[in-house]
Amino acid sequence: MKCVPRAFLLTLLTFWHILSLSCHSQTYWSFSPSPGLFVSMFWIAYFLSPRFCHKFVGYLEEEAVKTYTHCIESLDKGELKMWENTKAPQIAVCYWRLPGDAMMRDVLLAIRADEGHHREVNHTLGSMRPSETNPFSWSMTSHHQYT
Ligand SMILES: [Fe+2]
Repeated sequence: MKCVPRAFLLTLLTFWHILSLSCHSQTYWSFSPSPGLFVSMFWIAYFLSPRFCHKFVGYLEEEAVKTYTHCIESLDKGELKMWENTKAPQIAVCYWRLPGDAMMRDVLLAIRADEGHHREVNHTLGSMRPSETNPFSWSMTSHHQYT
């Protein structure tokens, strides 16, 4: 299977119905009925204040970390029976470079780590002045050169 850049979203779509029934996340999913409206409003907000938008997304990412932590804790307590013996989908194994025998818990850990990094990036960008150099530009460039 070929890894695609949007594997995160495809993985979530794979688990969409389980996530929405099991974790009761009120952060990301609350936007689902009106994604077009949200994107439009966010675009306008970003035009007016990129710093505000990066901070806003940073706080959303924090909530996502809490949500995935809650899911992992629930899984460990045996409250998510349907995930206890669920193998990671191949797209998630490929994208996050998980071992071939990875389970759903491993996917949740990988997603939570991503969200934690997104939180860091967005809070950092939201705290910068326009004249400052993006501290992530070098790492992103070097990542793309060697992969
Ligand atoms: Fe994220």
